[in-house]
Amino acid sequence: MKRQFYFIFLALTLGIPALAVADVDALMEGCNGCHGDNGVSQSSDVPTIAGIPEFVHVDALYIYQDEARPCAESKYRHGDTSRPATTMCAVAADLSEDDIDALAAAYSALPFVKATQEFDAAKAAAGKALHESSCDRCHSEAGTNPEDEASMLGGQQMGYLRNTFAVYMDGSREQPGKMKEKLDALSADDLESLVHFYGSIQ
Ligand code: HEC
Ligand code: HEC
Repeated sequence: MKRQFYFIFLALTLGIPALAVADVDALMEGCNGCHGDNGVSQSSDVPTIAGIPEFVHVDALYIYQDEARPCAESKYRHGDTSRPATTMCAVAADLSEDDIDALAAAYSALPFVKATQEFDAAKAAAGKALHESSCDRCHSEAGTNPEDEASMLGGQQMGYLRNTFAVYMDGSREQPGKMKEKLDALSADDLESLVHFYGSIQ
């Protein structure tokens, strides 16, 4: 404890960044190469990870480590884009438990910024009605309430949401049990309407 305090004191007086913090910053720089500055995505197929509840983020990274969720190969979109393409499963495989905890805590403290994207107003209206009858119980405030610990839907990238529904429906990503009942009752058009509803939250 004393040593740690001394180190922080030294770091503050000499302007050396404290070790743990520097590590997380370096990791986040890698993540942001795809997820965008401060974890706010500029790409439709990549989710914004800023503001995702800490518990959900930790859980997601362990699920990727277990390869229990599909992880498509992705190119880097920002910074050094010559880095080889990789997948979330490979990214998560390189993380320690401490890294996962630190990353989830750091991103959950950053503001979720809703994406500016085009949507179809009629589909969004149909999606709103579906959301209110089937999803609002667990995803309140149009899926923008981090306290639900059910990730963030309103203002999330539409391409990512569309892909997510596809992997839920083909069974390759596991769903919370009670959510599956609701999703299974929906048609492909219904799901597309939900994508437009969440995209309309800006
Ligand atoms: C090469 C690009 C790339 C890098 C680097 C990357 N990601 Fe991802 N990430 C993606 C893509 C694409 C998806 C969505 C598709 C998928 O699941 O494969 C995703 C999905 C996620 C999700 C799921 C979000 C949700 O709402 O369920 C989390 C969490 C995540 N990434 C965190 C991270 C963290 C933390 C890092 C850095 C340690 C990171 N990512 C690095 C491309 C990347
Ligand atoms: C019984 C509670 C419950 C209901 C009802 C429910 N969800 Fe969920 N949903 C969750 C939880 C918890 C998570 C986060 C855990 C996970 O990713 O497995 C989640 C995750 C999601 C995700 C993934 C988010 C991401 O970032 O990858 C989507 C999309 C989603 N829900 C859409 C819906 C839609 C649409 C409905 C209504 C048709 C719905 N959910 C109904 C609890 C629920």
